[in-house]
Amino acid sequence: MTLKLEGKVALVVGGGSGIGRAIASLFHAEGAVVALADRNADACAQLADELDARASVHRVDVSDEASVAAMVAEVIGRHQRIDVLVNSAGILDETPFLEMSADTFDRMIGINLRGVFLVSRAVAPHMVERRNGRIINVASQLALKGGTGLSHYCAAKAGVLGLTKSMARDLAPYNVLTNAIAPGPILTPMLEGLSPEWIADKEAELPLGRFGRAEEVAPSALMLAASPDGDLYLGQTLGPNSGDVM
Ligand code: NAI
Repeated sequence: MTLKLEGKVALVVGGGSGIGRAIASLFHAEGAVVALADRNADACAQLADELDARASVHRVDVSDEASVAAMVAEVIGRHQRIDVLVNSAGILDETPFLEMSADTFDRMIGINLRGVFLVSRAVAPHMVERRNGRIINVASQLALKGGTGLSHYCAAKAGVLGLTKSMARDLAPYNVLTNAIAPGPILTPMLEGLSPEWIADKEAELPLGRFGRAEEVAPSALMLAASPDGDLYLGQTLGPNSGDVM
C-alpha cells in the first residue's frame, strides 16, 4: 500500500504535545520526514526518539520573529525543503472579559494569531518558489461561537480563520494550498488551563457527549496534506468537534 506522505517533508510547529504531536506521528507513519518545532524542544526530542531518523527537533518561540526565521532556516538547511506546514502551537487560559488586561490579550494574540502569521510568512516563500505546498492552521471551533472567559483566545482563533482564507487566495496561484482545522474540545495538556466547571459544562452541551482525542483530529490534517485527497481544498475549515458546531 502506498503511504500518503512518502517523500514529503512536514514541519509541525507545536509538535511537542497534544494535537501537533498526534499529527506529526501520523504524518511520520505515512512516510513523511517530520521536523518538530516547539518552545518545548525537550518534548519534541522525546517524540523524535520514539520515531526514527526521519524526525528532527527545532526550538522556536512562534511569537518571536527572529526565533521563527532561525527555526525555518534550520529546517530548510537540514531537509532542503518544506512540503507541508502545520501550525499547531498555541496557549490557552481562562480570563473573564472584565478582568482581561491588555497584556494578557496581547500575549494570546502574539502566540495564537501572530505566531501563525510569522511562521507561515517565513515558510511560504520557499513553497512559492517550488510551486508546491500545503499549510494547515489549527484554529478552534470556539472561533465560530465564542467561549466564556475566552475572548482573547476566540479573537485569536477567529483571526486565524480569516488569515487562512486570505492566505488561501494569495498563495493559490503558486499551488500552495492553505486550510484550517477547527477542533472541538480535545483531551490534551492544554485543557489544564480550564476550570473543572468549564469542562463539565462543555461536555454536557456536546451532541456526541464526549471530548475528542488528538488521534481523532490528526486524520483531518492528513487529508489536507495528502494528494489527491486535499487537492481541491482551499480556505476551508474542517471541524472534528463532537458536533459542537454544525
Ligand atoms: P498542547 O498544550 O498539548 O500543545 C501546544 C503546544 O504548543 C505545546 O507543545 C507548547 O509547548 C507549544 N507552544 C506554546 N506556545 C508556544 C510558542 N510561543 N512557541 C512555540 N511553541 C509553543 O495543546 P493542544 O491541545 O495540542 O493545542 C494545539 C492547537 O490546537 C492549539 O493551537 C490549540 O489552540 C488548538 N486547539 C486545541 C483544542 C483542545 O481542546 N485541546 C481545541 C481546539 C483547538
